[in-house]
Amino acid sequence: MIFGVGLDMIEVSRMSRTLSRTQGLKDRLFTAAEAAYCESKYRSAEHFAARFAAKEAFLKALGTGWRGGLRFNEIEIVNDDWGRPTVVVHGKVREFCRAKGIRGMHVSLSHLREMAGAVVVLESGVEAVGLEASDSDRSGADASASGADESNLN
Ligand SMILES: CC(C)(COP(=O)(O)OP(=O)(O)OC[C@H]1O[C@@H](n2cnc3c(N)ncnc32)[C@H](O)[C@@H]1OP(=O)(O)O)[C@@H](O)C(=O)NCCC(=O)NCCS
Repeated sequence: MIFGVGLDMIEVSRMSRTLSRTQGLKDRLFTAAEAAYCESKYRSAEHFAARFAAKEAFLKALGTGWRGGLRFNEIEIVNDDWGRPTVVVHGKVREFCRAKGIRGMHVSLSHLREMAGAVVVLESGVEAVGLEASDSDRSGADASASGADESNLN
């Protein structure tokens, strides 16, 4: 069953300005793996912006907005071998999702030179399969985000 849907858009120039301010801010918003992915791309700010939009879209789908100690870098976008983005949650965000009964998370990104956007769909109430994180769920790149407790909840 659909738990929530979130949509968010952001100007790429705003993301560029934000990222140029401090490295600390980048670390608070993005995992090391996300930063590495985006920085490997030609127009990296577009990819950063799309991921930030996805994090905000996720919080909208959750229905909370940004509150309760949830951290942006605890919502991670990981691309599979085909380039398809997936959501992996860590730490408090993961705990919150478990408490809300969320079992499925879906994300789609799009970005142009000026704008980036994302949509997130969260599912609840389906059979929990592989709820506990396995080694293959781990991006392995965000040791700083939350420690060991992480999962894509699929
Ligand atoms: C996957 C595809 C649809 C992306 O669309 P796009 O208009 O090029 O680019 P968008 O900005 O809208 O989307 C980019 C995002 O698509 C997502 N994406 C990439 N591959 C994906 C896949 N296999 N499944 C789902 N999403 C995918 C990624 O999140 C990517 O952003 P990221 O690299 O920052 O994670 C496109 O690259 C594609 O494969 N098109 C097939 C047709 C084609 O190649 N046409 C070109 C000649 S007209």
